[in-house]
Amino acid sequence: MGSTLKGRSFLTLKDFTPAEINEFLDLAAALKADKKKGITGNRLKGKNIALIFEKPSTRTRCAFTIGCVDEGGYPEYLGNNDIQLGHKESIEDTARVLGRMFDGIEFRGFKQDTVEKLAKYSKVPVWNGLTDEYHPTQILADFLTLREQFGELKGLKLVFVGDGRNNMANSLMIGSSKVGINFAILAPKSLWPSESLVNTCKVYAAESGSTIEISDDLDLVKGADALYTDVWCSMGEEALAAERIALLTPYQVNSALMARTGKDSSILLHCLPAVKEKEVTEEVFERFADVIFDEAENRMHTIKAVMVATLGE
Ligand code: CP
Ligand code: NVA
Repeated sequence: MGSTLKGRSFLTLKDFTPAEINEFLDLAAALKADKKKGITGNRLKGKNIALIFEKPSTRTRCAFTIGCVDEGGYPEYLGNNDIQLGHKESIEDTARVLGRMFDGIEFRGFKQDTVEKLAKYSKVPVWNGLTDEYHPTQILADFLTLREQFGELKGLKLVFVGDGRNNMANSLMIGSSKVGINFAILAPKSLWPSESLVNTCKVYAAESGSTIEISDDLDLVKGADALYTDVWCSMGEEALAAERIALLTPYQVNSALMARTGKDSSILLHCLPAVKEKEVTEEVFERFADVIFDEAENRMHTIKAVMVATLGE
């Protein structure tokens, strides 16, 4: 049977089965192994892709660009000041124009609704490179890294520590509950995820035989194979810095919290960029720098896999 991924958009992991998520990961691992041997391909030959960025980016922009060029495609960067998206031209019209010229569109920005409209009106595959609500391509890189570290995902315990209602916490909860990772969010109550998303993910968790826990008790990290943290103020929330520092300082990932896992083998993941001495101490960050930068590199292999699987020949 052929892949079910061809021609699809990648807007949130809610849209993919556990088998499809694993298919992206298997393809990413194969593309990574090839690239290490100096082998790239032509699977995106003749494909033009638009990269729309309302918010800044290092990893996601570079991963889409390099991933596309490695496979023979052409990427065009469209920054916030380059196009009229949603200002002087509607999202619907921009989508219809881009859909006539490009074979695929990446969008990073504020509203999830924008990336969904782009997919609906462009009629080409659209990939979510981060919105306020979700960051699904990041999860594939995180899971590839966990697979490299632990061999398999099912049964691992992953604890997200910090702003438990941000795009990373939401997407990790969706992805983990789908693939069978026991997932937990350690955060103050005012930063817990929406009840409706938790309930959706509990259904996925019941299907995959995993668990979801949400707590403000630091003992939640006991037995964790991996902690995961992210900035306390996501892009667009900079004005909340003082409030977040007050709320989240007790949840800093430091050597005491790492020790509280009770496992010498626990690792730390971070999507980056990191603000040292806020969500993570410099010492803990440096202790896990090798795995964190593997994770950053894996953005490229996994994003390449998403483009190849949905658009490639
Ligand atoms: N992790 C991540 O998405 O990084 P960028 O913001 O640099 O793309
Ligand atoms: N939560 C962060 C993730 C950055 C990759 C943000 O949205 O800024």
